[in-house]
Amino acid sequence: MRALTVIPLTKDSARLDDIGEPPVSDGPVLVSTLAVGICGTDIEILSGAYGWAPPGHQRLVLGHESLGTVEEAPAASGFAKGDYVVGIVRRPDPVPCSSCAVGEWDFCRNGKYTERGIKEHDGYLSERYRIQPEYLVKVDPALGTLGVLLEPTSVVAKAWEQIDRIGGRAHWEPTTAVVTGAGPIGLLAALLGVQRGIDVHVIDQVTDGLKPDLVRALGATYHTGPIPDAVKDPDVIVECTGVAPLVLDAIEYIGPGGVVCLTGVSSGGREIGIDPGALNRTMVLENEAVVGSVNANRRHYQAAADALSAADHGWLARLITRRVPLESWAKALDRQPEDVKVVIEVRPS
Ligand code: BGC
Repeated sequence: MRALTVIPLTKDSARLDDIGEPPVSDGPVLVSTLAVGICGTDIEILSGAYGWAPPGHQRLVLGHESLGTVEEAPAASGFAKGDYVVGIVRRPDPVPCSSCAVGEWDFCRNGKYTERGIKEHDGYLSERYRIQPEYLVKVDPALGTLGVLLEPTSVVAKAWEQIDRIGGRAHWEPTTAVVTGAGPIGLLAALLGVQRGIDVHVIDQVTDGLKPDLVRALGATYHTGPIPDAVKDPDVIVECTGVAPLVLDAIEYIGPGGVVCLTGVSSGGREIGIDPGALNRTMVLENEAVVGSVNANRRHYQAAADALSAADHGWLARLITRRVPLESWAKALDRQPEDVKVVIEVRPS
């Protein structure tokens, strides 16, 4: 079967390979892949900056934002042929640490977790894959190929859960949120904020086009420019760019008692001057919290499945700006200015 593979930490090593059928050791459920979304992490892997091949292998099958249909499943697995499904990305570390032991692999404490398509475990960008049922999530069939948005939505479902849990340390009734970045993660974070009844403000650089339109269609407000020009003292800031000055702005401009959630992975290597004393003073005097959030566990995938099901499917469809057939995969990896979410169609639906 065909699969898109890379040599991790080797720039431009991607190629469409013919590989063997998925190993039975990956699990009893056989899934036929429909589509796989491409995100910043994939681009980083392709650039040679991130990623790990499975032990003893040179190449890694790419792809962690999957959607497929069940081909074969044991009767007791809870899945049946034809179900629309998404594979969970992370697997617990083998120790397991105390978090992985209770299914909170997104909080793995020793870093020995694996991630399909990213870290030591082949991904989902192959025509078929096998999986254990506990790492498979059903998606509303009414979503059709929009189910490919489940994995990025799980990441923001976790971020919002963190925000609510941390905010809930005291009286917590958030009314305003700022989202920095109107890429797929930012837009999905905005969607979940709006679904919570919060007044959401999204900040990005572009002045017109699809991103501002998508924000407005959600009932949120679109801005370019600094956070305080958009909202003064927001209760929540979801930082979705990883751009260093924006990260610092988010910490500086969060409102009293507010929560900043950082979701973007920065590349590092850039130093900018800050006044840690002033930052500390405001954070202490205003009870502010800053939290990093990565990955998602099963609970977050379920929350994401519910959020997507409840969302306007027409709006979700506009997030997918390009669908590229597997054989033209290179076009999917070549980022275009108007791209929001680009999807590789493994099996035309
Ligand atoms: C994925 C996460 C993963 C993270 C770090 C993100 O793109 O969505 O599941 O944990 O990269 O590898």
